[in-house]
Amino acid sequence: MITFTLNNETRSVDADPDTPLLWVIRDEIGLTGTKFGCGAGLCGACTVHLDGEPVRSCQTLISDIENQNITTIEGIDGKAAKAVQTAWEDIQVPQCGYCQSGQIMSATSLLSQNPKPSDEQIDEAMNGNVCRCATYVRIRKAIHHASDLMEA
Ligand code: FES
Ligand code: FES
Repeated sequence: MITFTLNNETRSVDADPDTPLLWVIRDEIGLTGTKFGCGAGLCGACTVHLDGEPVRSCQTLISDIENQNITTIEGIDGKAAKAVQTAWEDIQVPQCGYCQSGQIMSATSLLSQNPKPSDEQIDEAMNGNVCRCATYVRIRKAIHHASDLMEA
């Protein structure tokens, strides 16, 4: 049995220690906002927060997060998260939407640590989040907009 905190709730799962966190989140716990893209750490669709830091849940073993705090798209909260969600709506960022929970998790983590990022800092922070619909220009614009919302 492995115990961890998920979206501020204590969870215990009876899973093989080598099970990727993504499988546990989606298949055992039933939170499907976190997406499976490549399964190889290359696309960012599966991004969740580990103590506020973005991690790829397809590459994170359940045994590695024992007693740690995980947040998924369903559980993000706080000033940066609210600003990002509003900005994503205002700028109408998503196209198909598949990559967007991962994008939002990375953007929220960036703005939590750096409320006024430059274009270069945005590109660096968002580099591992791939969008097949190429919404990159809107993502960058929305992150600047979220930054302004946080200041207001
Ligand atoms: S599904 Fe995890 S990085 Fe692509
Ligand atoms: S919005 Fe379609 S993959 Fe990003």
